Amino acid sequence: MALLRGQTQTALALGALMMWVVGCQGPFPQSTLAPTADFGAHIDDLFRWIFWFAVAVFVVVEALLVYVLIRYRARPGAPEPERVHGNTLLEIGWTMVPAIILILIAAPTIQTIFRTDGTPAEGALEVDVIGHQWWWEYRYPEFGITTANELHVQQGRQVSLRLTSQDVIHSFWAPRLGGKRDVIAGRTNRLAFTPDSVGVFLGQCAEFCGESHAKMGLRVMVDAPEDFAAWVERERSAPAPAESLSALARQGLEAFRLVREPASNSCIACHAVQAVSFGVLGPNLSHVGGRTTVGAAALPNTPAGLAQWLRDPVAVKPGSKMPRIGLTEDEITALVAYLQGLR
Ligand code: CUA
Repeated sequence: MALLRGQTQTALALGALMMWVVGCQGPFPQSTLAPTADFGAHIDDLFRWIFWFAVAVFVVVEALLVYVLIRYRARPGAPEPERVHGNTLLEIGWTMVPAIILILIAAPTIQTIFRTDGTPAEGALEVDVIGHQWWWEYRYPEFGITTANELHVQQGRQVSLRLTSQDVIHSFWAPRLGGKRDVIAGRTNRLAFTPDSVGVFLGQCAEFCGESHAKMGLRVMVDAPEDFAAWVERERSAPAPAESLSALARQGLEAFRLVREPASNSCIACHAVQAVSFGVLGPNLSHVGGRTTVGAAALPNTPAGLAQWLRDPVAVKPGSKMPRIGLTEDEITALVAYLQGLR
């Protein structure tokens, strides 16, 4: 008996430790519980409202249950309990109370659905978001910018995303900013939110879309107005002319332009760099050096990270549409210098 009690205590202590380890350690970069945009705040408010009703129901039901279990438990020699049928007052009560609670939950839920339906206000920043296996393309028609995976938006200015897919169904989700929304080929869904805090907010494709679904990450960079304007300026500027590149970067440009065998192994077959190439199958690389990650947030955009990606994209991202090209180490070094210089 003592042994059993000891084991139970150990099990309970281990369980509590596990909950503490997995549940209570920060930071939580993809938590919906610390919203930084109006959309996220609407969802969070609704969640908290419903949560307290659930707490009240739990407390009342459990308290009644415990009371009844103790008060009416079987005792030795006690007589058979009396049988009771029907109690109009009780039955009206336990029908009305849940009905009222459901109305109190339904009304704000429906309000929130309409409030977050993606209708943009006048003057919102429009961005076309296109899902690909497995990366995100962003186009800013207002500025003529095309970029990938890292969405820059302006603090305090509403952003209106028009979401569509090039292939299968994806789902755009940056939890701290707002709810997720499906990204479907042949259809344009809308998602609008106004970010209130400067920072980098992590996101993730939230609809299973094939082998590397888990590696279809995204980042939303919320910039202060002047930083956003500076970013737009940089993205719109033409890349440095070949003559001004270092010898190594120029070799990189040559490697980038090289038509390989098979042709689909050439960088220019899939990637666009302003004034250099026009590929549209892969991310636009015109200013890739200004991004913090490569491969849809799979690797940091450092010389080592980029080299690892170029050496074997399929190992980083299973099923990657970018093949193992078989670049030499010299080509990789030169390409890293060239691509990181594209800012
Ligand atoms: Cu795209 Cu999952």
